Amino acid sequence: NRIAVFASGQGSNFAALAEAQKAGKLGSGSIELLVSDKPESGAAQRAVEAGIPTLLLRPKDFASRELYEAEIVAELQRRDIGLIVLAGYMRLITPVLLTPYAERIINIHPSLLPAFAGIDAIGQALNYGVKLTGVTVHYVDGGMDTGPVIAQRTVAVEDNDTAETLAERIHQVEHGLYADVVAAFADGRIELVGRKTIIREK
Ligand code: GRF
Repeated sequence: NRIAVFASGQGSNFAALAEAQKAGKLGSGSIELLVSDKPESGAAQRAVEAGIPTLLLRPKDFASRELYEAEIVAELQRRDIGLIVLAGYMRLITPVLLTPYAERIINIHPSLLPAFAGIDAIGQALNYGVKLTGVTVHYVDGGMDTGPVIAQRTVAVEDNDTAETLAERIHQVEHGLYADVVAAFADGRIELVGRKTIIREK
């Protein structure tokens, strides 16, 4: 199953997925492309270093979001990509991408959704004062972090946590969880029934 990972940021989740694949832990998933809207991002750099092909496009070079995404879809189809894994891709997705990849796009978010959707979920959790937060993997729909939940893990907030210390523990949990879920996704072990998902064990 040919996967494109989309990332805008430092790319630690992308790197963890690439490592998991090397270690034989991504099931039948094979990362074939890194798509980034930030050509200078850490994610793009890591892909070049890892020898993974990249598609680096600046949205502002396009007349509309739709034209930007149409270019991406053309490249995904050229490369016969079947699954899209968002890993810190900081853009909403339009029907241009959603329609051809319906139920074949997943995302990871650093909170227990539906709490703290949107940007800076870790800061939102700290400001709110919750004692437990975590990580959610979910299907992507047209909204902001609103698609059906696939998997969640909790992370406890410690009294002395800063945004940095909490983010570090959340990232650790993300890396393990995302590799497991992407493997299940690639192996066709995730079933969506209405808003609920079921992951079959291997
Ligand atoms: C992660 O916390 C992910 O949950 C969120 O964006 C962050 C990306 O981090 N969607 P990285 O670029 O993978 O290091």
